[in-house]
Amino acid sequence: MGLTLIVEDHIQLQDFYHLNLYTWVGSDVIRASNAKFAGEILESRGQEIDLILTRFNIKTEQTFDALVNNLALLKLKIPIVSLGVENLAENNVTYLSSGINIKEIIKTCAGYLGVTAQSMSKLEVDEFFPVPIQLFNHLELAVCEIFDLEKNKILDPDQPIDSARLKNDIASGVSFYHVKKDKRLKFVSNYNEVMASQMNLLELNKDEQVQASELCHNLTRENLRKFGMNEETVKLANKNLKDMIQTTKQTRSLLRFIKRLVQNKAGFHFKHTQILMYISAHLMDELDWGTEEQKAKIQFIAFFHDIALENDEQARIHSNEELKNSELPLMKKELVKKHAMLAATLVSQYPNPPMGVEQIIKQHHGALNGVGFSDHYSQNISPLAIVHILAEDFATHILEDGVHFDHKKIIKEMREKYSTQRFKKIIDSLQTIAI
Ligand SMILES: [Fe+2]
Ligand SMILES: [Fe+2]
Repeated sequence: MGLTLIVEDHIQLQDFYHLNLYTWVGSDVIRASNAKFAGEILESRGQEIDLILTRFNIKTEQTFDALVNNLALLKLKIPIVSLGVENLAENNVTYLSSGINIKEIIKTCAGYLGVTAQSMSKLEVDEFFPVPIQLFNHLELAVCEIFDLEKNKILDPDQPIDSARLKNDIASGVSFYHVKKDKRLKFVSNYNEVMASQMNLLELNKDEQVQASELCHNLTRENLRKFGMNEETVKLANKNLKDMIQTTKQTRSLLRFIKRLVQNKAGFHFKHTQILMYISAHLMDELDWGTEEQKAKIQFIAFFHDIALENDEQARIHSNEELKNSELPLMKKELVKKHAMLAATLVSQYPNPPMGVEQIIKQHHGALNGVGFSDHYSQNISPLAIVHILAEDFATHILEDGVHFDHKKIIKEMREKYSTQRFKKIIDSLQTIAI
């Protein structure tokens, strides 16, 4: 179903596009790491190529322009999907600002390759779906059963990839491993999350950063749930935490930040955590007792407080009432009820967590034992816990109203709800946040 030329120097992104194009639109791919190499491929095999998927610029090279010149010289008319600069569709060229938004990329490529959802669903897929073997180089764990060429099972779900065997198989010319047909979508979405988690945020534009952070956040949550805290999950969580803190540092306006999250269709759980981290950091800058150490602590709390929740539906629940009325199955209602306690237990296994974070995470819905929700905050609750609770309430208001949030109105409502003296300074500081 067509042949796509991928022009990208980042090997992980090459693999990312390769696996997705192959899985979702059945396209074969050839790769080039720059315009010069792509030019050579176009010269020898240009007639076979149906589509070019390229970065607009690769480092200092003006890749897209060079490719367009090359196509003109060779008198080839091949559509181009250009990544990384803007969203715009022209004659035979579509520009997409994000090279990580795989849904959009695949949809666009499918259009050029003449592949529809209908034709894809009709596509016969064998019982065993082949995955190019080199893609396993980036994976540490098998998310589903993996089979060799003879369809013998070589790995069970969640087993570590045997890198010695992989190296050996690649050296002896094996081209594919296999996954069962009904597990291929699970394999690809896990693969996308792993790829995004390995990316250096500084090499990405702002839209890509949001998407990569969210994919990494999803993987962090899944893996912490499955494996608890271990060397790998701690590493993953630390990377995600560091990236999300970095994002808060780059942010100057709350409204622009929300707009970017909305434009990139970020999910509620991720948005909630990311915005909460930003608001918490702002409060620590404003409050006279705020220090860099306290800021790191409260961002750590924001990152982990809802980590035990599995999805957006669960993360939207903020009261006993909402929990009671939700349509979640009983077991999931139990999970939501206990999520603060579960997160605190998880964090207790983190190596050297900042002092006192466990307690605050456990009590972030006002219940001392971390079970259920309460609006009555004990007098013993620490000042940092109060900052977290108010930051979270503020974040929830903003997310409910989206890009049309009314800052003044939210502050007014919060002043009425939290009327005692110990809340006043914090609400004053919420008022000074740059919109
Ligand atoms: Fe929360
Ligand atoms: Fe929570």
